[in-house]
Amino acid sequence: MYKKLTPEDYITSSIIRFGSHDKYIQEKILVDFFVIKGNMKIAEGLRNYIKKHLKELKSMPKIRLLDVGPAIGAITTMLALQELDRCGLLEKTQVYLADVSQRVIDKTREGDFYFPKAIINSLLKRKIMKKLKNLKGYVCSASNLPFKNDYFDIAVAGFLFNNLHNQTKFSSAKQIERVIKKNGFIGIADQWFRDYKKEYCAEHANDVIPLAYESIMSMDKILKFFTSTYIRERSRLKDVSKENYYYFCGEKR
Ligand SMILES: C[S@@+](CC[C@H](N)C(=O)[O-])C[C@H]1O[C@@H](n2cnc3c(N)ncnc32)[C@H](O)[C@@H]1O
Repeated sequence: MYKKLTPEDYITSSIIRFGSHDKYIQEKILVDFFVIKGNMKIAEGLRNYIKKHLKELKSMPKIRLLDVGPAIGAITTMLALQELDRCGLLEKTQVYLADVSQRVIDKTREGDFYFPKAIINSLLKRKIMKKLKNLKGYVCSASNLPFKNDYFDIAVAGFLFNNLHNQTKFSSAKQIERVIKKNGFIGIADQWFRDYKKEYCAEHANDVIPLAYESIMSMDKILKFFTSTYIRERSRLKDVSKENYYYFCGEKR
């Protein structure tokens, strides 16, 4: 039923699917709300991290935030910026987006997407849009991030790993750990279906653009890749299959 896809096919599929997915945020709110929930969990993990490291974060001249695989609108980043704003850290935060799609970056920078007032305080809209206007965008693959070691203070990847070919999941996890500085925050969320092929892929079997995520990995498997991360918070296993997502947050050792 499914043709064997290569890592390059996955990238091409993502460029086409997500580059043209102008209504990504609306769709997630209306159809796949578990994606929003997973991202809210990353934001909650970041809130706890900020509380713990507030003094240090306040003393830093700049905070660098990297979002790997943002999709149009960078919902993961928007929720993270909301948390940074709560503690007066928004002003000095610089947003970096890394995605295989140039259009994802351009549309996000232009602010050409739906601002989700249902989950983000609308009073923040102007400030968040300004941050995104000034974002630094990189068209690249997660498995080969063009940044120096220990460069970022915060790195997030919401629902990225299920879009990666199996052969690149490990190297992508390693790249995220490489570019984050010691004690920096890492927040990951992803989707999980117990019977992925029957339940999810079957629904997408006739999609015009081939579904390039024939395999998803369980939280435990992905966690094994993050060997340099001290995990502070994570989904409870019994919740994962009920919710169709998992998350984990931690600090680089
Ligand atoms: C499902 S969206 C996730 C959007 C958002 N972070 C969220 O949590 O809802 C996946 C994103 O990953 C990007 N992507 C897919 N493969 C990638 C790769 N190898 N490297 C970097 N980004 C990739 C896609 O273009 C898309 O923007």
